[in-house]
Amino acid sequence: MDIKNNNKAIGVMDSGVGGLTVLKQLLKICPNEDYLYFGDTKNLPYGEKSKEELIEIVKEIFDFFETQSVKAVVLACNTTSATAYEELKDKYSFKIYPLIQTVAKCVSKDNDFTRIGVMATQATVNSKKYTQEFNKNNPKIKVFEQACPLWVPIVEKQITCSDEKEAITGYLNKVLEFNPQKIILGCTHYPYLLDKLSKYAPKELFINPAQIFANYIKEDLDKNNLLNPQISGHIQYFASSEPESFKQNAKIFMEIDAEPHLVKL
Ligand code: DGL
Repeated sequence: MDIKNNNKAIGVMDSGVGGLTVLKQLLKICPNEDYLYFGDTKNLPYGEKSKEELIEIVKEIFDFFETQSVKAVVLACNTTSATAYEELKDKYSFKIYPLIQTVAKCVSKDNDFTRIGVMATQATVNSKKYTQEFNKNNPKIKVFEQACPLWVPIVEKQITCSDEKEAITGYLNKVLEFNPQKIILGCTHYPYLLDKLSKYAPKELFINPAQIFANYIKEDLDKNNLLNPQISGHIQYFASSEPESFKQNAKIFMEIDAEPHLVKL
């Protein structure tokens, strides 16, 4: 990529506020970058959609990022990394960072795990992407993937759960029975539930991939001469519907100063 691109913005996308867990880490380690965060609140939740639907959705968001001339796009979303990344990766001029592929590579490179649990959306689990990517890096690794369809609506406050304990432990116990050495929170919304999860299992058992992912992105931008040499750090937010509730829900992850813009997909 041309070196003059390095002062362009980085696009970050997810279905709603979950990807803010990744943006937060990026802001810590790459504070000089400009960011455009896209929360696709109109199409939320992604986890219940088909691969074909998700490819079409991500295409529209990537087209939007292209109009904004970004230098890179971060798929701060497991579900679209699992379903749409391979299809779209060579069709755009910007660099694309997929979450699952990156995190599976980093976790297997740096550790000797043989049993990994993954908690993710239904679409991610259906794709078996975590299992495939871990096995690519270490064929001996056993991966147990559990779908947690209630968790995104709980985080996005689309539903209130009268029995939250049941909604948490129902899925968690199935993964614990597998006796994993680590459990990956394989949906960027799930780290919000970490305090609640740690009532039923040790906090250290869980991996929030956001930090590993952000570290890799920084290293790779650096390697490709794409880190912004100037001090900038502007963030703009975009939502595909109800930008006010996006801003409100975002508070669970971080305080947003700017008003999110509405972008109709
Ligand atoms: N946060 C996303 C993920 O990491 C998508 C969640 C959803 O909208 O279902 O998979």
